[in-house]
Amino acid sequence: MTIFDEVLQEVDKRCREEGIPMLGPEKAEFLTTFVEKARPSLIVECGTAIGYSGLWMLEKLKAAGKGRLITVEIDPDRARDAQAHFDRAGFGDLVDSRIGNAIDVLQTITAPVDFLLLDNNFSNYFPCFQAIEPRLVDGATVVADNVGIGADSMADYLEHVRSRYDCQTCWFDTELPWVKRDAMEVTIYKKIVRNT
Ligand SMILES: C[S@@+](CC[C@H](N)C(=O)[O-])C[C@H]1O[C@@H](n2cnc3c(N)ncnc32)[C@H](O)[C@@H]1O
Repeated sequence: MTIFDEVLQEVDKRCREEGIPMLGPEKAEFLTTFVEKARPSLIVECGTAIGYSGLWMLEKLKAAGKGRLITVEIDPDRARDAQAHFDRAGFGDLVDSRIGNAIDVLQTITAPVDFLLLDNNFSNYFPCFQAIEPRLVDGATVVADNVGIGADSMADYLEHVRSRYDCQTCWFDTELPWVKRDAMEVTIYKKIVRNT
């Protein structure tokens, strides 16, 4: 077993035992197929928790030899634990863990973003999307978790992206203790050029 597998297993176990939200393996596999396809230079993640989804994405970035992750978490204890997990798995130099409200932190990012994962509180998906939109490159991949169980709370986000961009919703049966069925949505962002 590699150190990555060991840390991932430990994080998975702790999330299940302590009820810390995480993607779980089914959705993480789906997410990482898009990371592999996009070969992003910069992934931004809203909602780090203790680093489960981050570990999956970082493993793909390391394998590709390209890309880094900025991940944002409002709970400082979770952010600290996530950083310890990233470091132990050998990904410390590929990740920038930031503590704070994602809406505020995203406004401080100045680099172009070609991959976005929305996995924080549902009502903040749209404000987070709007905060990072000036940095999103044409063709950026935007993945939103919990679009099944959180659809009502993120209705503004879903209406916005579905009316403008190419979106694909995928439903999953999961074995997570707190939810048995949910969906993720992948949007391919297009810059809309306005003629003035
Ligand atoms: C579903 S969990 C993230 C799971 C993580 N992506 C994973 O799969 O391992 C959501 C996380 O978002 C954090 N959060 C909630 N509101 C936030 C906000 N406004 N800004 C940043 N993080 C937030 C929560 O503390 C929680 O840890």
